[in-house]
Amino acid sequence: MTILDGKATSAKYKQAIAAEVAERIAQGKKQPHLVAILVGDNGASKTYVASKEKACNEVGFKSTVLRFPAEMTEADLLKEVARLNADSDVDGFIVQLPLPAHIDEQKIIEAIDPSKDVDGFHPENVGRLCLGLETFVSATPYGIMCLLEEYGVETKGKHCVVLGRSNIVGRPMANLLSQKGYPGDCTVTICHSRTRNIASYTKDADIIVAALGSPEFLKGDMVKDGAVIVDVGITRVPDETAAKGYRIVGDVAFDEVAPKASYITPVPGGVGPMTIVSLMRNTLLAAQRREK
Ligand code: GUN
Repeated sequence: MTILDGKATSAKYKQAIAAEVAERIAQGKKQPHLVAILVGDNGASKTYVASKEKACNEVGFKSTVLRFPAEMTEADLLKEVARLNADSDVDGFIVQLPLPAHIDEQKIIEAIDPSKDVDGFHPENVGRLCLGLETFVSATPYGIMCLLEEYGVETKGKHCVVLGRSNIVGRPMANLLSQKGYPGDCTVTICHSRTRNIASYTKDADIIVAALGSPEFLKGDMVKDGAVIVDVGITRVPDETAAKGYRIVGDVAFDEVAPKASYITPVPGGVGPMTIVSLMRNTLLAAQRREK
C-alpha cells in the first residue's frame, strides 16, 4: 500500500510555482494577486481562507482577504464582485462558500468574470470543462488529478466510482476521469444519497473518490483488494482530547480500508493540500492569461 502524500506533492508544486513567480518578477512582470471574499464567520471557511493566505505567501503571490459580516446584503456582495472584476491589479478571486442563506450563491458565482474565476465555478468554466476546453478546473478535482499523475496511478479502462454529486467535487471529478488521455479514460459511476446498494458499486471499483461529507462512510468490506482510494472528506468531529476540541475525519474508515488499498490518501495530508496548491496554479494561470 502506498500513501498518496498530498503534503509532500503540494510542497513540490509550491516550490515550482514560487520559482516561476520569482522569474516573473525578475522579468518585471506583476506579482500574481489572489483575493478571497469571506462573508460571515463559518469556522471551516475561516480555516480554508487562512490556508489559502498562507500558501499565497509561500509562493510569492499578493494575497488579499476581504471580510464582511454575515448580514451583508446580496446587492453589496454583487457590488464587491463587480469591483474585483474591474480591478486590473486582481488576477483571480474566490467567494468562499457557503454563503449566508439570504444570499443566492449561484447569482454571485455567475457575476464573477470567468477569466478571474480561479475556483472554476462559473457556468462558462464548468461548460468548458465538460467540453474538454481550456478552463479553470476547480481546485479539488484538479488536485486529485495531479496527485494520481504524480504517483503514476493507472487510470485507463479502470472503473472509477465517485461518491457524491456536488458541483464542486463529484461532478467535475467524474467528468475529468472520463475524459480522453491520462489521467482519465476511466469508466465512471457516480453514486449519491439516492443510490441503492452503494457497496455493490464500490466493491467493483478500481478507483474510489469519496466526496460525500459523511465521516468514515467507506468501510473495509465495501472495497476490493488493490483499489485506489481518494478521500475528499474533511468533517470536523468533536474530540475533547484534541487541542482545538475537534478532529478532522475523512469519508473513508482509513484503518479498515488502507490494508486492502494499493494507493490511499490520508486525512489530513492528502487531498486538502492539493486543493490549496491547485488554486495557486489557477491563479498563476490567470495572471499568465491576462498578459496575452
Ligand atoms: N468551500 C468549500 N470548498 C470551497 C472552494 O474550493 N472554493 C470556495 N470558494 N468555497 C469553498
